[in-house]
Amino acid sequence: MSDELIWDPADPGHIADPYPAYARLRREAPLWRHPYAWVLSRYDDVEAALRDRRLLNHGLQGENLLERLMAGLTPPIGERTRAHQRPWILFQSGQHHTMMRRALSKGFGPRSMERARHHVGRVVDDLVGRIRDEPSVEFVESVAVSLPIAVICELFAVPAELRPSLRNLLNPLARTMGGVVMTDVSISEVDAAVAAFEDAMRELITFRRRRPGDDMISLMIQGEEAFVDERDVLSNLGVLLFAGHETTVGLLANGLLALLRHPEQRALLLREPELVPHAVEEMLRYDAPAHRVARVVHEPVEIRGRRLERGELVWLMIGAANRDEDRWEDASSFDIRRPSPQPLSFGKGAHFCIGAPLARMEAQLAFPKVLDALRGYELRTEPVAYNPSATLRAPRELWLSR
Ligand code: HEM
Repeated sequence: MSDELIWDPADPGHIADPYPAYARLRREAPLWRHPYAWVLSRYDDVEAALRDRRLLNHGLQGENLLERLMAGLTPPIGERTRAHQRPWILFQSGQHHTMMRRALSKGFGPRSMERARHHVGRVVDDLVGRIRDEPSVEFVESVAVSLPIAVICELFAVPAELRPSLRNLLNPLARTMGGVVMTDVSISEVDAAVAAFEDAMRELITFRRRRPGDDMISLMIQGEEAFVDERDVLSNLGVLLFAGHETTVGLLANGLLALLRHPEQRALLLREPELVPHAVEEMLRYDAPAHRVARVVHEPVEIRGRRLERGELVWLMIGAANRDEDRWEDASSFDIRRPSPQPLSFGKGAHFCIGAPLARMEAQLAFPKVLDALRGYELRTEPVAYNPSATLRAPRELWLSR
């Protein structure tokens, strides 16, 4: 077992390009001991751990794992944010988790997705219309951030008159919530954003109690036996934003970047747009938006001949597993025709991403139009600067011009 710090979540070099360190982990230390946690990096191990019911998403006393994911890297989470996050579905297990999932999943069923499709299509047209023919385009802010924000507003059925103010609130909030796992956001900034978000959502909940619809907030209120009380509803509106925003930004921005750096793949996708759904899976595999999740050992478990004890923390490196050469031939190359990309990017098992159909739809609708509008544009930001997070991977900005 290596004592060397092969991969360091605080190392800016590893954040900029984690893949050489991931390759060493898979090759030399597939079960590796970081000072704060066990680290798994091979596809089969990460997949098995995601499915293992002895490894749970909360500490032995129910604590929030975001803090342990960030062990030693950021100051502790503020009280306001901790209270907001405690009921997040992400940190529940057993019966309570199953009930919450059932209630939340209703908002992502085929009917909701069909309705969302029209809206996403309209938003994509609007955003792409704004960048078309511009002399230079900053893709992250103008499309990758704006699209998921608009989609969340639709999912929550925010009344038209509230949209501009809520959009203004959600944008910085989504980034600050993502900031819980980033190193450059302060406790008080996150706490203030959470408080403003809860105030706005409380108003919306009151409105929907009077005028229920088939939107996410109405569904959550109707499922209140699962959510227990309004506190839980408020929190789980927050988790949708936390889990769904920065990750979708990552899919769109990492995906475009991969295409820009592989001109032959970009040309192929423009020529054969029917490859888009497949290409989106390859984007998710090649440069995953969420690079790791955390689990706590609740019953001792043997992995690679070693017994992990109750209470120990494990980091499951999705970003590393997705490049495992034992799983895919030539795993480090970007190939939109790759047979069966099937990455672990949305997780597996009990906590498999509820929003996967929505994220896939956003990317599948956006890429053909974005690529068409950006014909002849080239990347002007090299080297690309990333958000300061070893967990949520997305470039800070991507400038393009002709
Ligand atoms: C869970 C990734 C988009 C809502 C997860 C997990 C991953 C993930 C890896 C599992 C976490 C774990 O096992 O600990 C992604 C990626 C996305 C994306 C890469 C975009 C490309 C979304 C969207 C939404 C969403 C758009 C909702 C609007 C959720 C929720 C969970 C979750 C609620 C928790 C499920 C549970 O605990 O049972 N996501 N996600 N995600 N995601 Fe996503």
